[in-house]
Amino acid sequence: MTVKYLGHSCFLIGLGSKTLLFDPFIKPNPLAKDIDFGGLQTDLILISHGHHDHIADGPELARQTQAPVLSNYEICHWLNKQGITSTIAMNIGGKWVQPEYSVKCVNAVHSSSLPDGTYGGNPMGFIVESKFGNFYFAGDTALTYDMKLIGEYRKIDVALLPIGDHFTMGVDNALIASDFINCNTIIGMHYNTFSPIQISTEAAQLKFKAAGKTLHLPAIGSTLEF
Ligand code: NI
Ligand code: MN
Repeated sequence: MTVKYLGHSCFLIGLGSKTLLFDPFIKPNPLAKDIDFGGLQTDLILISHGHHDHIADGPELARQTQAPVLSNYEICHWLNKQGITSTIAMNIGGKWVQPEYSVKCVNAVHSSSLPDGTYGGNPMGFIVESKFGNFYFAGDTALTYDMKLIGEYRKIDVALLPIGDHFTMGVDNALIASDFINCNTIIGMHYNTFSPIQISTEAAQLKFKAAGKTLHLPAIGSTLEF
């Protein structure tokens, strides 16, 4: 399993020959200016909720890559109206099973309006299972006791958790979340992109280390292997 960080909450995750792209927000993110946007390819685009900083490049990348977009019903309907026909409209609790992997939509405690103000349905996180490993992409969420269910449901090998505070949980709550989901390998996201979500990355990593866990904070454009 490979995890390439494209900035903010955007990741390109490789599972064998398949790649999954989460929450595309590259062109409007100055920190991601060195990403080769035109060269991006993927087999599936997953969008956790309707906020600009998670969907901004969704329509363009859906056209560029011809990959289907998996999101909630309302967001898929919104994309359909823009001419993006290949969508997988789901909702919380549902599982999409493919030969190589499966995606389960889980609860996120947040909000989800679309960039034009349209209702964006409920925000979601995703659990992806494959023979290359299982991971949890939390999306934008507060700490919630529902995360205990995730830890009981499956062995999570790697979890991508927001750590920037203000709009989502911060570092201290992400550490509790990692206990709830029973996972010691965490990748931080949704931090340092905007001024309200600036954090001390050193302090964050020390807190996880003190708890016997690893908080990976890869540079934008770099790839981790698990
Ligand atoms: Ni959001
Ligand atoms: Mn966000």
